[in-house]
Amino acid sequence: MSTFISKLPKVELHLHIEGTLEPEMVFALAKRNGITLNYPDETALRAAYQFSDLLSFLRLYYQGMEVLLTEQDFFDMTLAYLERVHQEQVRHVEIAFDPQPHRLRGVPMADIIEGIARALAQAKAQWGLSSRLIMAFLRDLSQESAFATLQEAKPFRHHLYGIGLDSAEVGNPPSKFAKVFAAAREQGYRLVAHAGEEGPPRYIEEALDLLQVERIDHGIAAIHDEALMARLAKARTPLTICPLSNLKLNVVDSMAEHPLLQLLHAGLCVTVNSDDPAYFGGYMNANFLALQQDLGASKHDLLQLALNGVEASWLSNEEKQQLHQEIISYGEQHGVYLKT
Ligand code: ADE
Ligand code: ZN
Repeated sequence: MSTFISKLPKVELHLHIEGTLEPEMVFALAKRNGITLNYPDETALRAAYQFSDLLSFLRLYYQGMEVLLTEQDFFDMTLAYLERVHQEQVRHVEIAFDPQPHRLRGVPMADIIEGIARALAQAKAQWGLSSRLIMAFLRDLSQESAFATLQEAKPFRHHLYGIGLDSAEVGNPPSKFAKVFAAAREQGYRLVAHAGEEGPPRYIEEALDLLQVERIDHGIAAIHDEALMARLAKARTPLTICPLSNLKLNVVDSMAEHPLLQLLHAGLCVTVNSDDPAYFGGYMNANFLALQQDLGASKHDLLQLALNGVEASWLSNEEKQQLHQEIISYGEQHGVYLKT
């Protein structure tokens, strides 16, 4: 592992907490909850992590999360992730959870949100690792279901910062959720949506124009639309890109063909994230390393990507300035100077 990457202060903005369930934890939670899994052991489960596309991944992702039943389960899963990224010099995280599949299994909303929030509070107290929590709607479910979920979350509003949109993209355009995103905006939530992962550039435009999101999760389809790229660059609309995820889900054929650097050099506010690290073969540092080793990203690029993460985050201006300066100083110590 390159020391430059492993010690670089970082921010993660696109992470599904259920996507951090490592096979070992899936088996431990299954045992604790008396659940029988379809796989004989952790090795067999890990061996099943071969995906042809987003849908083939989502099948395993929803199956894996079925072991989550109690507040303690949500706490343990979240703390394990936070401990891991703390060791990787991640200073701030904005993480999403998918309440609907848990609610369909009968898990109370209180146990889901309070378990995650308790781990976030502990990480802040113990390591100074700050966070924002994003509640995501599944786009392959109905808008009515999203409205019901928004309503159910009201008693826990103080734990929640943003609303997101994820799951099977193609055929479920952002326009399907315009009303519920407007309601969430009224309630003071910050807004993000997955768009342009497997879907077309038009979905990115819809997310911006109809949902009025301030960040796009993935968004790499923008590379196919020059006018959209110019718009995103001008507005500095952040794209939370996940290199290893894109590779594992065949959104790109190889890391060498990933458009991340083209987008970065065209002036877009692209950031690096891990999406579902337990399934895609790596957390934050592994994603940065793949960019350096297989895409040819320079230290200058990596530093700019880390700074973009700070810019794209929902930290206060004061917190942003502090972390920005820390990253700039880190670069200077390693002979990397950015024009700011
Ligand atoms: N849910 C978890 N990971 C996802 C991804 N990469 N795209 C859409 N929905 C997801
Ligand atoms: Zn995602």
